[in-house]
Amino acid sequence: MEFQAERIKLIKASPSMAISLQARKMRQEGADVIDLSLGEPDFDTPAHIVEAAYRAMCAGQTRYTAADGTPELKAAVARKFQRDNGLIFAPDEISVANGAKQSIFNGLFATLEPGDEVLIPAPFWVSYSDMVSLAGGVPRIVPCGIESDFLLTPESFEQHLTPRTRWVILNSPSNPSGAVYDRGQLGALGEVLLKHPRVLVLSDEIYEHITYGAVPFVSFGAACPALRGRTLIVNGVSKTYAMTGWRIGYAAGPKALMVAMGKIQSQSTSNPCSVAQAAAVEALNGPQDCVAPMVAEYRSRSTRVLEALSRIPGLRTAQPQGAFYAYPHCGSFIGTRAPDGQTISNDADLAAYLLRIGHVATVPGVAFGLSPYLRLSFATSQAVLDDAMERIQRALADLRQDAHM
Ligand SMILES: Cc1ncc(COP(=O)(O)O)c(C=O)c1O
Repeated sequence: MEFQAERIKLIKASPSMAISLQARKMRQEGADVIDLSLGEPDFDTPAHIVEAAYRAMCAGQTRYTAADGTPELKAAVARKFQRDNGLIFAPDEISVANGAKQSIFNGLFATLEPGDEVLIPAPFWVSYSDMVSLAGGVPRIVPCGIESDFLLTPESFEQHLTPRTRWVILNSPSNPSGAVYDRGQLGALGEVLLKHPRVLVLSDEIYEHITYGAVPFVSFGAACPALRGRTLIVNGVSKTYAMTGWRIGYAAGPKALMVAMGKIQSQSTSNPCSVAQAAAVEALNGPQDCVAPMVAEYRSRSTRVLEALSRIPGLRTAQPQGAFYAYPHCGSFIGTRAPDGQTISNDADLAAYLLRIGHVATVPGVAFGLSPYLRLSFATSQAVLDDAMERIQRALADLRQDAHM
């Protein structure tokens, strides 16, 4: 019996989740595995946010809400855009969803016609390309490697545009590379877009507050106000406030797009959890001083991980400017052989070897559309990171050039 429609055959389950499952299985079997594959903060949600959720439950906020978010949360989102980005949005230019993931899904589903192309600079967050395929679009991957600091240049952008291009997806700070676009770089991409009026911009700004490099975060909406009529900004509370499990994301953009996205949501999930929406109101409106200590911790972990990586011969790593990942280039290990005889033909083999022998779970670059790289998440304590870096160093030192390749 066939259970998969053709469109489902086009997509795969999240590769990072698959690796993390394997790491968990090895742990259950007794292995001491360090998991650096996870993409979520290791902090608890701040107490004042949890308490707001409890108060909301006790006050009876336990019913359906408007499908695209409560008026209170939309007002909090509008206030956030004004406070943090200098952008003014009316409530009907905002929609709330079950995570930024659903906002992106809705945006693509609402607009893509079969065969429409979506430009995705690689490395990219694992879900973009599969969501495009699921919506009937065609992902067009634009490689942006370590040589270009993982940033899309205006020249490369222009070269990849075709009459079928419908969207470009930008993600700054980036998961997995940690790259951040400055105002000038966003402006230069905006200049290209001005010449291509059919192309929409999806700016995924979910790591906005997790920056610690020399490049300050700038919203695409603030850098390119002339493109407001075709910009969809996506953000959420998952990363900034350590709220991944609460599932609240939001989007701001043209009213007609919000209406279309709202229609999809009203016929699929309906409203995001009412209690989680109340918690998100507190996250956005309440005291913001819970964010800085988390960012400071990511900053010091990033420095430590980068120092350790720079001491490992054969890895090349750019300093991440934000998010909580390092994305070392591991090309010099491709074509090597492990002590157990296994050949390392690509970054997936290397990640499998590091898990099997080093007992460290990482995600291979192939999952993010750009090889040969590994993504290491530093959403774990410094002591665990130190241990992981030592294991990686030892395991890589055991690889030998394969004479047969
Ligand atoms: C770049 C990027 N965008 C969006 C998301 C989805 O976030 P949410 O938890 O709000 O759905 C993630 C989560 O890993 C992400 O890394």
